Amino acid sequence: MTQNKKLINWVNEWAALCQPDHVHWCDGSEAENDRLLEMMVSSGMAVRLDDAKRPNSYYFQSDPSDVARVENRTFICSAKKEDAGPTNNWVEPAEMKKTLTEEYRGSMKGRTMYIIPFSMGPLGSRISQIGIQITDSPYVVVNMRIMTRMGQRVLEILGDGDFVPCIHSVGAPLQPGQKDVKWPCAPIEKKYIAHFPETNEIWSYGSGYGGNALLGKKCFALRIATNMARREGWLAEHMLIMGITNPQGVKKYVAAAFPSACGKTNLAMLIPTIPGWKVETVGDDIAWMKFGDDGRLYAINPEAGFFGVAPYTSMETNPNAMLSCRSNSIFTNTALTPDNDIWWEGIGTEIPEGSITWTNHVYNKETTPVAAHPNARFTAPAKQCPVIDPNWESPAGVPISAFIFGGRRPGTVPLVYQSFDWNHGVFMGSIVGSEVTAAAIGLKAGVRRDPFAMLPFCGYHMGDYFGHWVSIGANAPHKDKLPKIFNVNWFRKGTDGKFLWPGYGENIRVLQWIFERTDNAGAADETAIGYVPSKGAINISGLTAVEKSMDDLLKVDTAEWIEECGLIAEHQAIFGDRLPKEMASQFELLKSRLSK
Ligand code: OXD
Ligand code: MN
Repeated sequence: MTQNKKLINWVNEWAALCQPDHVHWCDGSEAENDRLLEMMVSSGMAVRLDDAKRPNSYYFQSDPSDVARVENRTFICSAKKEDAGPTNNWVEPAEMKKTLTEEYRGSMKGRTMYIIPFSMGPLGSRISQIGIQITDSPYVVVNMRIMTRMGQRVLEILGDGDFVPCIHSVGAPLQPGQKDVKWPCAPIEKKYIAHFPETNEIWSYGSGYGGNALLGKKCFALRIATNMARREGWLAEHMLIMGITNPQGVKKYVAAAFPSACGKTNLAMLIPTIPGWKVETVGDDIAWMKFGDDGRLYAINPEAGFFGVAPYTSMETNPNAMLSCRSNSIFTNTALTPDNDIWWEGIGTEIPEGSITWTNHVYNKETTPVAAHPNARFTAPAKQCPVIDPNWESPAGVPISAFIFGGRRPGTVPLVYQSFDWNHGVFMGSIVGSEVTAAAIGLKAGVRRDPFAMLPFCGYHMGDYFGHWVSIGANAPHKDKLPKIFNVNWFRKGTDGKFLWPGYGENIRVLQWIFERTDNAGAADETAIGYVPSKGAINISGLTAVEKSMDDLLKVDTAEWIEECGLIAEHQAIFGDRLPKEMASQFELLKSRLSK
């Protein structure tokens, strides 16, 4: 097992507090995984899917109150409130620990406490980090085994070293003789996803779902890692990583940040429509990046699996994702067909008669029209992706040539543009946003800013985070080797309200221009907002339907951008005196270019 004193003492303390019936150290073996899954099948928590259709795969339904990340119950407990910043919930660390200690007291009664040693990133990479998660959820264990490198091998690498301690309890102790429910969890007001950035600790209580419970992902790899990265001079980002090879065989890697629900997994696994181009996936959600000895920025995907949104994933929209979850996968809150396979809206087939919805009702078009929860997920091993990059587990990481930002903007923002320089690119990342309708999330309609797609994931003051990006540029060992920075918008609409750009595999045409620009090729016009492709610079051969839309797609409308500046001013004001002066001056430069 381990001789690590700190680890042993820490586990003993938590076992004494949570009072589980048993403590189990996870070795990560297949036998252990099979045992846990069999146990969950016999308790009624899991269904084993049909082995011919979906080998070695399992189906789960969550409690209806526990279906997604809970942003309003997520806390950054820095010593000072101002260090959490205006975009995070804050509670004083000692107060949070006091509250949660009382919740954790006896919270694992009647359950087993599992100890999960895990590595974020390839084992032994200088960019990787080790965490240990304590949990009372066997569902979490089997998911963490797909999403991270987990088990005994990690303890061996850890030795006497340090780790990020991650505590998790579903917050549903069992009294002697009490029968367990299918998906134990605590009510919403008792859920807490708490981060202590100064001490690198994560305390999660009350939820068993996704990012609330698989603590390696958003909690560690983003909220805690952003703090580590800031202290140590590297980057922890909500970015996919992909390799792009041109017809001449030249390969480059890019990293891209998009807010949730902008098709990040689809882009990461894109199948190019233009002959000779190839896309390979390194990761679909998170990138950790450090400078290499050659002065380039190298990225790893800290995860080992995909935790993808299932609805609207199909053999049409993303065959590589569908093939990734062909076997050895876990499905949560999809529908279950009568022949023990999964189904979801947008999978590309009609729902089979007699299917069971995620709320465990027989599907009925009239009474239960939505069969899968919109945030239903597949957990699939990344190595099963048909286009997984050969270097995806390279301990050195892959060298990044470009950063791409993007949101959902029906107007104003062109299909693609490039920043003038690093700080201008940081400014572009800082103003990323998506148009929301009031009905969708009960907020004011308009542009919801999601800087760097990090709004729910930045573990400290967002103004300081912009400053960290500025300092990465300023301290880069070779400024000319920094990635070039771009913004894309696949979602621009015409006056008829229809999307102007076809998206999906055709996005390779935009990636081609980005690829060329990283070699200072690819024709571009200088505009007030940045470099925009010159007429004819985007390869649309064989795509005659968009020819007439290209002017609209690439248009930079001064009046629209002056209006946008009003919104940017409101957005920048949120950060007060923590807005880096470089961001204020980039905004002044933009306004002055627009007024020319
Ligand atoms: C995710 C998200 O689940 O960004 O990856 O919400
Ligand atoms: Mn994400």
